[in-house]
Amino acid sequence: MLPVTRRFPPAFSRPARKLSAHFSSSSCSPSADRRLTGPLPAYGAVGVARILESPSTPTESTLFTKEFSLTDRIALVTGANRGIGLETALTLAEAGARTVYCVDFQKEPGEDWTKVHSFVERLGRGKLEYINQDVTDQEGMWKVGELIGRREGRLDVCVAGAGTTTGGDVSGLEHPSEQFQRVMSVNTNGVLFTAQAAGQQMMQFKNGGSIILIASVLGSVSMEIREEPNVRDAAYHSSKGAVLSMTRTLACELGPHRIRVNSLSPGFIQTSMTSFLEIPELGKRLSERAPLGRIGRPDELRGVVAWLASDASSFCTGSDIIVSGGLHAW
Ligand SMILES: NC(=O)c1ccc[n+]([C@@H]2O[C@H](COP(=O)([O-])OP(=O)(O)OC[C@H]3O[C@@H](n4cnc5c(N)ncnc54)[C@H](O)[C@@H]3O)[C@@H](O)[C@H]2O)c1
Repeated sequence: MLPVTRRFPPAFSRPARKLSAHFSSSSCSPSADRRLTGPLPAYGAVGVARILESPSTPTESTLFTKEFSLTDRIALVTGANRGIGLETALTLAEAGARTVYCVDFQKEPGEDWTKVHSFVERLGRGKLEYINQDVTDQEGMWKVGELIGRREGRLDVCVAGAGTTTGGDVSGLEHPSEQFQRVMSVNTNGVLFTAQAAGQQMMQFKNGGSIILIASVLGSVSMEIREEPNVRDAAYHSSKGAVLSMTRTLACELGPHRIRVNSLSPGFIQTSMTSFLEIPELGKRLSERAPLGRIGRPDELRGVVAWLASDASSFCTGSDIIVSGGLHAW
């Protein structure tokens, strides 16, 4: 067969030009190229473009001091009293956030939170603040957003981490309505109310923002159900599947306002929620399902949280980032 010759429109067959032309700073006159790529962040060009544009060759890297940095940004994290939420709050503080508002329905923060709070104080920059609020209360969550907006004059990052399970093995054919609704109410409604609370403030302050909805790999794949013991939970799977869809919908609505919405889908991570992994047969079976052959630690989500929250992921929205030890890859 003869090779197919593809004809490209003139724009694609032009000779290569200097890369810097695509990343002109905001002080340059508008050009067709800038309209395509949007304005640069306040700190200007980074990477190859910065080196090519600079009159003298830069000697310092910007990767962690600019793109990954959350210096001066304000964050809201739900479910932040412990587990993945608390790990997330710490990550954002370490990345430079000025204040991380930790929302949880536990009236008082627990010992883990208190220890992390003191560590952040010792770091000498940024702080964690605890707010007692149930994410299933829409009005209450909106008020949390308003409080942060009033106090800080901005809100840049939101992580909707509060979540729950049915707790135990329940056949999908008999899932009680009340239990189903309770899980949906926290994992789906609560995530929406959190995103609303943050998104409303981000819209008001016009700085853009990053909203991260914690879903789960179990929103995309089902679990082995042919062996005992089991942890069947149709409510949990359904609630997380809904978050994936919510992510795409909100990303499309908020993209024009530079508010990015992505979901983060962990596989099995060792927290209070996954205490069922201590049942030896279950722990072994579920560990072996992942190509890496083990359960993850909360700290193994730090990198992806820092990336999604910061400018380092500035072209990423409407995506689901799976961090599962490969559980989904079978
Ligand atoms: N641990 C895992 O293997 C795993 C895997 C995938 C996804 N996730 C998701 O990650 C998130 C965090 O899970 P985790 O493992 O840290 O669980 P966890 O049980 O350790 O922490 C959940 C936190 O959410 C809080 N919370 C629960 N209901 C709330 C409500 N109505 N309002 C406010 N706060 C509430 C709890 O008090 C707790 O602090 C959840 O959304 C969970 O579904 C966990």
